[in-house]
Amino acid sequence: MRQNIVAGNWKMNNTLEEGIKLAKEVSALLEANKPNCKVVLGTPFIHLAEAVKAVNTDLVGISAQDCADKESGAYTGETSAAMIKSTGAEYVILGHSERRTYYGETNAILKDKTDLALANGLTPIFCIGEVLEEREANKQNEVCKTQIEEALFHLSADEFSKIVIAYEPVWAIGTGKVATPEQAQEIHAYIRSVIADKYGAEVADNTSILYGGSCKPSNAKELFANPDVDGGLIGGASLNAEDFNGIISAF
Ligand code: PGA
Repeated sequence: MRQNIVAGNWKMNNTLEEGIKLAKEVSALLEANKPNCKVVLGTPFIHLAEAVKAVNTDLVGISAQDCADKESGAYTGETSAAMIKSTGAEYVILGHSERRTYYGETNAILKDKTDLALANGLTPIFCIGEVLEEREANKQNEVCKTQIEEALFHLSADEFSKIVIAYEPVWAIGTGKVATPEQAQEIHAYIRSVIADKYGAEVADNTSILYGGSCKPSNAKELFANPDVDGGLIGGASLNAEDFNGIISAF
């Protein structure tokens, strides 16, 4: 059966010292009160190696927030999937809407990043989601389907089984405007049906589909109660250990 996952996305926040303090706080809270889901912390690159050492890795997995679309070589400033893996990190967030919007990441680029992440043994947390105008035009299903098709549907069923999907409506990210539990369930079920059409019911049933966008301790329970919502990708609320733990406790 698929795993429930709560993953934090710190984005570009926390110095090394602040980040390691936060990682230790989260780990200590989980040791005191064992989580009923997989917990992941998505840190900036510079935190990864230290974060792996700072947490109880039986309880917390460490994730990067991006990786290069090239294997290695003369790509100044880039960080490869192999480098991420060498820190002990196990996950990589790919295709976050901020990367798509501010750094021009296309589905074609994300296809290459996904291949490199998988080839290096990382679990991609692959983000999809529509912007407000697309939601208002009722195009959310079409948008999510295209994002998955163009970036992921070249994978074999075996490869696809290693992917975690994060549905993040762009209008809900960092805005305080959360999707209703009904909106989340409806599109998560649709995304699962798209996966089932391509890879069959078993692969679809085993795929974790997370919700992201203004998820907080106060709304996590009703979001995660939906049959097709298998956890969350958490931005702002993952920067505070108590808040993040409050979301984890929704399971
Ligand atoms: P938010 O961000 O929880 O701050 O809305 C979610 C995300 O961008 O992953």
